[in-house]
Amino acid sequence: MTPPFDLVIRGGTVATAADVFACDVGIRDGKIAALGTGLAPAPREIDATGLYVLPGGIDPHVHLAQPSGESITMADGFESGTLSALFGGNTTIMPFCLQEKGHSLRAALGAYHALAEGQCYTDVSFHLIVSDPAPAVLGQELPALVADGYTSFKVFMTYEGLRLNDAEILGVMDTARRTGALVMVHCENEDAIRYLIGRHEAAGDVAPRAHATTRPVAAEREATHRAMSLAEIVDVPVVIVHVSNGPAIEEIRRARARGRKVVSETCPQYVMLTAGDLDGMDWEGAKFVCSPPPRDAAAQAECWTGIEDGTFDLFSSDHCPFRYDDPEGKLNPKGAVNFRHIPNGIPGVETRLPILFSEGVVKGRIDLQRFVALTATNPARIYGLSAKGSIAIGLDADIALWDPAAKRTIRHADLHDGADYSPYEGVEVTGWPVTVLLGGHVMIEGGRLVGGKGAGRHRARALSSLTHRTAESVAS
Ligand code: URP
Ligand code: ZN
Ligand code: ZN
Repeated sequence: MTPPFDLVIRGGTVATAADVFACDVGIRDGKIAALGTGLAPAPREIDATGLYVLPGGIDPHVHLAQPSGESITMADGFESGTLSALFGGNTTIMPFCLQEKGHSLRAALGAYHALAEGQCYTDVSFHLIVSDPAPAVLGQELPALVADGYTSFKVFMTYEGLRLNDAEILGVMDTARRTGALVMVHCENEDAIRYLIGRHEAAGDVAPRAHATTRPVAAEREATHRAMSLAEIVDVPVVIVHVSNGPAIEEIRRARARGRKVVSETCPQYVMLTAGDLDGMDWEGAKFVCSPPPRDAAAQAECWTGIEDGTFDLFSSDHCPFRYDDPEGKLNPKGAVNFRHIPNGIPGVETRLPILFSEGVVKGRIDLQRFVALTATNPARIYGLSAKGSIAIGLDADIALWDPAAKRTIRHADLHDGADYSPYEGVEVTGWPVTVLLGGHVMIEGGRLVGGKGAGRHRARALSSLTHRTAESVAS
């Protein structure tokens, strides 16, 4: 007789966004097939005594192999990026597919798929960065891509060559309204930043720390307010990504109080780093250059409050890795003379979950249910990954077993990304994922890689839980 399960995880403590309970998990054909006690024996059993059995992390904000300017190379492609994600307890990541100006998104997607094919250790699902919202892109290309399961777009209010003006953002949001896609916005006022860069350069103040002072809270707060106002005018939900400070959080709370559907995301850098880190010795502050920049201790506390009180829906890495000591990285020949040339972004896909577990759950700021909500269930629901994000019968058996007592000091030498440093070097954490299953396959066992490259696949997505009603009502 065929055993009812391929694998049973026994004796662990299961956590979902709603509950924590002692329970065994039976897995068949890559899916969670049973939850209970006394499950029938399976050919493969995992003893999870003393471990938490959590849904695999979903990191919905990751940059891999993204073109980043002349002679700059991102430190991770799909192989090292997904391997690093897996070791950090993730089973799905959502990288961005960047449309370059004058080019089609469909062609860009073809290139990203070719890079990802056969290389991934986790599942992946692409967001689309819209940098050139030409009429054919808004009218034909994006609607067809949404129908094919690419159901989220990111737009930028900053960065030369990427930023859209308000009219263009309204156009993208209108396409989202018609298709049910979800728009993510990078909120920083580019004109204000350029003005401040001019002032700093005139004063000869061009060290890495100037990256933070030329991107002040007011530039983020204003853009956050404007993005939500544009979304209100079009009447679509909006995702405010990588929020770094209290005033921007207050804008989000006010928009929600007016009844707007606003999703908000913060990241480890905004609760662990400050602008002071950009001071670093010599040019070492470049290691912490990301946008928006880390702020100060008060902003960190405001972000923690937002994590604790439910203002934030997502805790993502914004993993955007560049090597430091590399002519194609942070110390590129141009970067070494002016902060403006330092590529923006820092690594963090492997450390996101341990940092939130340790600083959040172990230190008593959030409970395990909220940890699961922020890092798996919410991203699945918000971005339409309907087979993922919880421990429930019928869902993909994407599971991470955590040792809640494991103590680790973060050292880049122990991580698996392609950068040459971690912004969290030396940080001590309690809790680490020790065994990770992707679609029922054991990928990491007892901290060692046992699964193969190529086990991860691209996943088309449904519409967001926030937009599917909008899309139906627009269609009717
Ligand atoms: O500095 C950052 N965050 N770089 C990544 C690109 C982005 O804006 O998300
Ligand atoms: Zn961004
Ligand atoms: Zn990003």
